[in-house]
Amino acid sequence: MKKTDLLYEGKAKKVYCTDVSDVLIVDYKDDATAFNGEKKGTIVGKGVVNNRMTNHVFQILEKEGVPTHFIEELSDRETAVKKVEIVPLEVIVRNVAAGSFSKKLGIEEGTRLLAPTLEFSYKNDELGDPMINDFYAIAIGAATREEIDRITELVFKVNEVLKDFFAKADIELIDFKVEFGRYKGEIILADEISPDTCRLWDATTHEKLDKDRFRRDLGNVEEAYEEVFRRLGL
Ligand code: C5P
Repeated sequence: MKKTDLLYEGKAKKVYCTDVSDVLIVDYKDDATAFNGEKKGTIVGKGVVNNRMTNHVFQILEKEGVPTHFIEELSDRETAVKKVEIVPLEVIVRNVAAGSFSKKLGIEEGTRLLAPTLEFSYKNDELGDPMINDFYAIAIGAATREEIDRITELVFKVNEVLKDFFAKADIELIDFKVEFGRYKGEIILADEISPDTCRLWDATTHEKLDKDRFRRDLGNVEEAYEEVFRRLGL
């Protein structure tokens, strides 16, 4: 399989067309951004960690009955994936209060939630990805009721599988964001699952092992990504 045209360049990834129909190649970069692109930097080695971690996790999720876009890891940074039509929603699940949830509700970071939460943001850089609900998503044509229901079912399954998976590495899954795509009439998991898109805390010390180290200038950013990589045996 060969890369052809650059289809899209995002903040953390490049996506290429290939000589195979319906197959794209994702190329993970070391570039990091936060606060809707206002803060920019580089996290050396991040592309490798995010590629390997996403692929490992997606294969586990497939075995647990969650369909994903994963086809084949091609190199340290490159993966062949199914070409989907992205549902323009960021789908966020939280187990423990942190980040925008803590700020909005005045609940201290680290407070365990009584049940996992689900929220949607409308993917739109100009608007800063505003939070919307399922009725908004349906009203603006971002997704149908059937799609929202399937996404809800799948994302809570993802949460259960990931919580157990990270717990074995002494990591607590605080929250995460995923995206879904449409592929041959089905909703499948797309995009990535990595320290860029999850909050991952050491289960014992609560040390942050994720992109909050970059967002909040906590230092040891590369070390945190490497630590996750090492603990997961990637
Ligand atoms: O900032 P907030 O608390 O809403 O983030 C919730 C979760 O979603 C975090 O794990 C964060 O890394 C992830 N997220 C993301 N991309 C965004 C916004 C949030 O991966 N654009």
